[in-house]
Amino acid sequence: MSQQNRLGPAVGGFGSSVRGRVVGILGPAVSVLIAAIFAAVFVSAFAEAESAHFHHVRLNVTDPEATMEFYTRVFGATPTRYANSVDALYTERSFILFNVVDEPPPSALKSGLWHIGWGGIDMPHKYEWLKSQGVKIHTPLYALGSSFVTYVQGPDDELIEVNTMGHNRFGHVHLFAEDVNETVKWYLENLGLSARRPHVPKPDLTRVRAWSNSFRCDNVSIIVYGRPDFTPKPPWWRWEPLTEFEPTEGRAINHIAFSYPDLKPEIKRMRDNGVTIVKPIGFRYDMNHTSFFVEGPDKVLIEIVESPSIPEGIWDEE
Ligand SMILES: [Fe+2]
Repeated sequence: MSQQNRLGPAVGGFGSSVRGRVVGILGPAVSVLIAAIFAAVFVSAFAEAESAHFHHVRLNVTDPEATMEFYTRVFGATPTRYANSVDALYTERSFILFNVVDEPPPSALKSGLWHIGWGGIDMPHKYEWLKSQGVKIHTPLYALGSSFVTYVQGPDDELIEVNTMGHNRFGHVHLFAEDVNETVKWYLENLGLSARRPHVPKPDLTRVRAWSNSFRCDNVSIIVYGRPDFTPKPPWWRWEPLTEFEPTEGRAINHIAFSYPDLKPEIKRMRDNGVTIVKPIGFRYDMNHTSFFVEGPDKVLIEIVESPSIPEGIWDEE
């Protein structure tokens, strides 16, 4: 993004008119200094984050070979050698990476990272096919308007939604939020993303399915539902009200990750925004990449990886 775009239209209007009056009073030499101060103030006040790219979903898995086989067979993911270093899955424009753990990770739905989602075109037939493949069904297929939805479980019981889309690809990450607007605002401000509706008033939850908003990062929709912390329970929630979030780290879906080509300005910007840095910039030997970790809203762990955007980044390495 150009510097002009980063600053936005407000700089030329308000800034230049005030500056003009100051020049008349103080003369040109001092005005240069004043102009520099104005520029600094406006850069800091109006600088916007460059857009992050979606990079990966990180799972905690007990048997990476089983996970590789499952997502390849059931969801058409492509087995790959990530960063020429570790076995991983490539899903169109991003990755699924694994932390290999000894004990089954907790998978109860108690974190802000609810599930990941794939599309399906002919869902009734796909549902029968999923069952024929021995996939663990979490929630049997049901109709939602003209669409169909089912939830299945991955090898470590990570929750996966499969719903009617125009494709069969990896399509979304579904988050829970204590406050949908605060959570969406955090992602938009800190990752330079945009939403069609940045603010959605909390609805009457006895009349609508959910307090919900969404935004996109590359080809991945990030959907945010208000957490089911109320009674009567919404139809899609059959457990106790979710009134407290567990941190995502260590759970079946450990974290999500975004990328920037250069991390230093991004970590500074996030620090200045008051974001909690969980791990500073460092080389991660297990993944053969450089990254930092932050705590996102609702105790969701987020990794920021230093990488050119995908797929360009992959082509660049060849
Ligand atoms: Fe979903």
